Amino acid sequence: MLSRFSPIPSLPLPSRHFIRPFSSLSPPPPQPTTTTTTTISPPPSSLSPPLFLRPLSHSTPLSSLHSFHHWAKALSLSQPSISSDLLRQLTWFLQDTTSSHPTQPSTVLLRTELDELYSLWNERVEKRKPFQYIVGCEHWRDLVLVVQEGVLIPRPETEILVDLVQEVEGFRDGVWVDLGTGSGALAVAIGKMMMDGDSMGRVFGIDISPTAVEVARFNVQRYDLEGKVEIRQGAWFEPLEDVKGNVTGIVSNPPYIPSSDLSGLQPEVGWYEPRLALDGGNDGTDHLLHICEGLATFLKPGGFFAFETNGDKQSEFLANFLSTNWRQLFQKVKVVSDYYGVKRFVTGHRS
Ligand SMILES: C[S@@+](CC[C@H](N)C(=O)[O-])C[C@H]1O[C@@H](n2cnc3c(N)ncnc32)[C@H](O)[C@@H]1O
Repeated sequence: MLSRFSPIPSLPLPSRHFIRPFSSLSPPPPQPTTTTTTTISPPPSSLSPPLFLRPLSHSTPLSSLHSFHHWAKALSLSQPSISSDLLRQLTWFLQDTTSSHPTQPSTVLLRTELDELYSLWNERVEKRKPFQYIVGCEHWRDLVLVVQEGVLIPRPETEILVDLVQEVEGFRDGVWVDLGTGSGALAVAIGKMMMDGDSMGRVFGIDISPTAVEVARFNVQRYDLEGKVEIRQGAWFEPLEDVKGNVTGIVSNPPYIPSSDLSGLQPEVGWYEPRLALDGGNDGTDHLLHICEGLATFLKPGGFFAFETNGDKQSEFLANFLSTNWRQLFQKVKVVSDYYGVKRFVTGHRS
């Protein structure tokens, strides 16, 4: 996901101007040179706004920003196993947080205080906090989704679920459900596709987590989709009684990691992403099976479903389960691979 479309300025001077020495063992040095020029606008909701949406309310001498860059690069290089990722993210970080001053070449405008840049980058490198939680957003398909701790960072492979929806005839006029919506990624993407042309369609995004619900609602609002996409709080099918039997399509990327695998996840995932979004129970299929059980009741005849799994064996097990145990209820059940050739998704139709 290298593409970034936010309006991003670049660092004004070449790196030869970066002069401040740095040791990765030392704490981030305090930077007293930042000055606040205007007041930060209140966030549009109770969420902390992502860095790129904050106003350019601060400024600092260009030389101080160069010192920060020098320090942050050295800190990133002190972690050889992830340094190339960190250096790429550092460029994005500066793009999201800085802009050249329109009239003073030796001054840089900032979206947060310079001290905060040190502290955030230290959290990224030393504490392995995911980059997306540092900047408060993730670029996913053609969207920039706001994320924060407590909400899963949407993954590139999940984008394929949106492509599968797009292939369903007449999807634009249907009732769609995204179970376990998290940041609202799938619900927003489907709702946005409906906006290309006239559409009667509606999307419901469901999540049990109040943080996810708040973040998803914010993303829906950011893309002006309140008339199309409704985020409801509750457990799986529980908030959907009013559309029971009338749903055109159900998509879901539920928690599917076996509980015993959680401790082996990389720090960025295991230490920071919500267990509620990851833990699929004993063999990872607790939620997937629960969702399978509800499909026939909530989908209308011919209705489509697509869900993400932990891959290969889990997909094959669920596809087999749906097409044998419940063969009267479902048809055209198949497994779809992700970008890496992993059998990642199970799709099908209600009979
Ligand atoms: C793997 S995350 C997927 C988030 C988002 N759909 C995405 O792909 O980025 C799973 C989501 O399911 C939600 N969830 C977990 N248990 C749930 C339940 N019982 N009912 C509804 N949502 C639940 C979690 O809060 C989390 O947001």
